[in-house]
Amino acid sequence: MSITISPSLLSVDFLDLKTELERLNQIEDLWLHLDIMDSHFVPNLTFGEPVLNKVKTISHHKLDGHFMVMNPEFFIENFKNVGLHNFTYHWEAVADHEKIISQIKANYPSVGISIKPKTPVSAIPLSILSQIDLVLVMSVEPGFGGQKFMPEAIDKLIELDLIRHKNQFKFQIQVDGGITDENAGYVIQAGANNLVAGSYIFSEPNKNYAQRINKIR
Ligand code: DX5
Ligand code: ZN
Repeated sequence: MSITISPSLLSVDFLDLKTELERLNQIEDLWLHLDIMDSHFVPNLTFGEPVLNKVKTISHHKLDGHFMVMNPEFFIENFKNVGLHNFTYHWEAVADHEKIISQIKANYPSVGISIKPKTPVSAIPLSILSQIDLVLVMSVEPGFGGQKFMPEAIDKLIELDLIRHKNQFKFQIQVDGGITDENAGYVIQAGANNLVAGSYIFSEPNKNYAQRINKIR
């Protein structure tokens, strides 16, 4: 599987959003990671449909929605037209997974499930893993950018990669939280093929994001 880097919009300069998106358009093969928070599932609130409708008009990249929300059903319905490629919901937020997955599949090309640091890989049954396109392993507690990578995530990546191989499942393995050039090699070796990075990329002092992205690659 090829490696995808997914810069997280959470760390851009929001006062200069258009220019930030144009800078990312200069770089090939990215996903744009969009952290949707509802101030209930996580103690933070980000952006919603009006902002994403603008983002869609500028960004050339595949839009990757990471929904840190209590009620993904509401968002599946209301974000149908913001141009998302992937819709990831949190395992911990939902009871009826079959229902949510089929609702996402009816409206978005790709469905992902995310697990928080304390949720084991074994929480997701094989019958669900066989149906989805992406598993997101959180390597920080969700809610904020700029936190430190939790090395416990490595074992979860290895476990998921084994399950994927053994069962010939097709899901991508994404990792999110505290990714830098220093740990990228380890997470890729462990099985991740899609790396979300926010503060590491956007703290480049000259806004030379390609340089940081290439370092991760
Ligand atoms: C945190 C978000 C992340 C965040 C990553 O809850 O899901 O996507 O933006 O930011 P960094 O790379 O700074 O940890
Ligand atoms: Zn995220």
